[in-house]
Amino acid sequence: MDAWSRRKFFLTTLAGSLAAGARNLLGGQAPAAQAAPQGTRPLIISSANGLNALTLGMGLLKRGLDTLEAVVSTVNVVEDDPNDNSVGYGGLPNEDGDVELDASVMHGPTRRAGSVGSIRHIKNPSKIAKLVMERTDHLMLVGPGALRFAEAHGFERINLLTEDSRRRWLAWKETMSDRDSWGPGLSDPEWKEKITGLLPSHWSEEQKAAELAYIRELILHPPTGTINCCAVNEKGDISGTTTTSGLAWKLAGRVGDSPIIGAGLFVDNEVGAAGSTGRGEENIKICGAHTIVEMMRKGMSPTDACLEACKRVAWSYNNDKARLRKFNISFYALNKSGFHGGGVLWGTPSRSGRRPSYAVHDGVEAKLVPLAPYFETAAS
Ligand code: GLY
Repeated sequence: MDAWSRRKFFLTTLAGSLAAGARNLLGGQAPAAQAAPQGTRPLIISSANGLNALTLGMGLLKRGLDTLEAVVSTVNVVEDDPNDNSVGYGGLPNEDGDVELDASVMHGPTRRAGSVGSIRHIKNPSKIAKLVMERTDHLMLVGPGALRFAEAHGFERINLLTEDSRRRWLAWKETMSDRDSWGPGLSDPEWKEKITGLLPSHWSEEQKAAELAYIRELILHPPTGTINCCAVNEKGDISGTTTTSGLAWKLAGRVGDSPIIGAGLFVDNEVGAAGSTGRGEENIKICGAHTIVEMMRKGMSPTDACLEACKRVAWSYNNDKARLRKFNISFYALNKSGFHGGGVLWGTPSRSGRRPSYAVHDGVEAKLVPLAPYFETAAS
């Protein structure tokens, strides 16, 4: 699929997918969410943006590879994709135009974990998180130290900022012009013409209009993409990983929930695994993934456990919908028996009417499954 088809897909699904991080990988026509079998092993699930990579992960599970190998290989596909601007290469940068990535891994059978925060120049932070787990006595490395560690292990330092992400960052930067000296703001009567000047001249008018609409959306609602992926194999061993470029236009050094063990990811080999995408600050406050695994330990279904996490997020704001409406957050979970589920704070459908969803491969096929909404729609 070319970049233009992806951009069109972005625009038709944007509102609902901002939280689920489902922007770029699902193809020109996103498949409709549907029911998926429960209680099957092996099983691999992810946020919706992992849909097209789950077949790879399932193949590895069926070949008997370790569950951590399977989930990291799955998210590497999304990290490598320049057109997913919420993860890895091509991720939207911080306010200075630097792409800073966060990731974590947990390996259930050996009860180990690793993570990296604010790492620059390395397109597969999930691999570095796994290396931190395997090759150090620590659990989390951040910033320049994490980069030096990656280079020491032979990882190449690259520029993670794609032309698309650079242009979108520049457009955002220029909206601040009532406060600094960069370019025209959104309120500039000629904003459209001036931002159009940043776009490749060979693009059609339709392409330019679509990109302008997309940039406007990114500016008004900075996305927190991310991919979470968890798997349980035939034996019942479980692993998970979460990887992200974090909140677009964040302050340099901002770390979200993805590398925080217990928030963006938690695995207990006796119980199950959980992860999250969306506004990390809210998830860190409630230790979402750990909460979900503990709820499943007490007997809750994965979906009910995810909704319990949503409930706690809502409680952080005394259930004040006016404030909660400003963000979204999704949770995903599977248990040792191969049951899976997910919940989302706001079930607001996308402009094309699609409900927020997550991706499941049950050994037969990969499909999107609806997330259970805590609140039906942010519009009401
Ligand atoms: N959940 C991704 C982030 O907030 O960085």
